[in-house]
Amino acid sequence: MDNQITYPYIEEYLNALQMPEDGFLRELEVFCRKENIPAATPPTARLLYLLAAICHPKRILEIGTAAGYSALTMYAGSGKAAQIVTIEKDEERFLLARQNFRRFDAIDKIKPICGDAEEIIESLEPGFDMVFIDAAKGASQRFFDLALPKVATGGLIVTDNVLYGGRTAMPGEPEHKHRTGVRAMREYLSFLCHNPKFHTSVLSVGDGVAVTLIRK
Ligand SMILES: C[S@@+](CC[C@H](N)C(=O)[O-])C[C@H]1O[C@@H](n2cnc3c(N)ncnc32)[C@H](O)[C@@H]1O
Repeated sequence: MDNQITYPYIEEYLNALQMPEDGFLRELEVFCRKENIPAATPPTARLLYLLAAICHPKRILEIGTAAGYSALTMYAGSGKAAQIVTIEKDEERFLLARQNFRRFDAIDKIKPICGDAEEIIESLEPGFDMVFIDAAKGASQRFFDLALPKVATGGLIVTDNVLYGGRTAMPGEPEHKHRTGVRAMREYLSFLCHNPKFHTSVLSVGDGVAVTLIRK
């Protein structure tokens, strides 16, 4: 199934309109697309940049680094002020991201960790102001539960891919091969939107992004 969140012409228009500025981030976005390495869509990257610019996070946690595109985008959005911890289980991608953080002169501020986020998050120091969950779709709730105790009140948890190509919102039973993932995502969004401890806005940007404020 193609992405059925917006019309293809709108998506193409927004992708072209919201490309990163020229420079390293643009190069990295093009590289990821060519090499089939997952990376946030340009509109999602714009949103991450904006959130980091508005919230001035001192510490950001990212779950799912890939080539480091979204970590570098949030870093740039924070005015190169945030300290970022980003976790990636695939060693080849971890090495590529580390190289990209060096090339961007950000290796002192962005710490990549190679391993399974489910095992690593618990060992991290609390006090993150922003978390970006962008790893296995079916595990978003698990990552949220693990990350929540590490987030300061007033912090943000941003989850990518919540509309799952449109499947999450599509009425009726999902196709067999996506059934577990779709059900998990529906339950996750319901949890985010109905819990009084959070304030969540679900945006049809890219593959769907949930922005959750951890209320004071
Ligand atoms: C969508 S990609 C991340 C894209 C990246 N955030 C960006 O926009 O540039 C998801 C990544 O999460 C990684 N991943 C999946 N499950 C994970 C886990 N349990 N722990 C750590 N990384 C995981 C995958 O290997 C993959 O590289």
